[in-house]
Amino acid sequence: MTQDELKQAVARAAIDYIVDGEIIGVGTGSTANFFIEELGKVKHRIKGAVASSEATAERLRGHGITVYDLNDVESMAVYIDGADEITSTGAMIKGGGAALTREKIVASVAQKFVCIADGSKLVPLLGKFPLPVEVIPMARAVVARNLIALGGEPRLRIKDGKPVLTDNGCELLDVHGWQIAEPKLLEAQINAIVGVVAVGLFAQRGADVALLGTAEGVQKFTF
Ligand code: A5P
Repeated sequence: MTQDELKQAVARAAIDYIVDGEIIGVGTGSTANFFIEELGKVKHRIKGAVASSEATAERLRGHGITVYDLNDVESMAVYIDGADEITSTGAMIKGGGAALTREKIVASVAQKFVCIADGSKLVPLLGKFPLPVEVIPMARAVVARNLIALGGEPRLRIKDGKPVLTDNGCELLDVHGWQIAEPKLLEAQINAIVGVVAVGLFAQRGADVALLGTAEGVQKFTF
């Protein structure tokens, strides 16, 4: 099976987690995009969705799914999204697609976080994938110094010769060189740096369920 087929398989499996008549939280990235395709097929079953990025909102609307502003939604049963890395305890690195802050916000409102990913994302220790940290642009240098003091190697995310800007108009530092033994602690330490908008460590509020695509089928983990 190709990686895309594995992503498609978990996207299909995630449909079992939608709750009829409810609003669904939807993530960002290639796996989430496969999920949106599946969601489009059963859109009559849901009230609508809250999107974790402008790109996801546009794609949801393209499938005829009503997109709600999070300010108008008090709670949702489920948030479904991909990950860049996930451990066997449900801690994740996210933000490869630059949507980490909105992903974290939407996930915080959901009762259940269902992570969908191909099996290659399962790791014993987080950190091989550089950890994204969204920063207020004027704080980029001071935040970088603080991340270095914590033992990381931050690099500004650049595309086409320019800093990548998030949907919130902020910049991203991708932190290399970490093997994250205590993700909850590191998440708290990075959150405490002034100028950080959000860190792509999802450990304090990790996944509740992971659906991982493997050649043997979709493996389900509950945490
Ligand atoms: C987006 O900012 C990310 O958190 C994605 O959820 C993550 O990068 C996974 O993306 P893929 O599904 O494309 O691997």
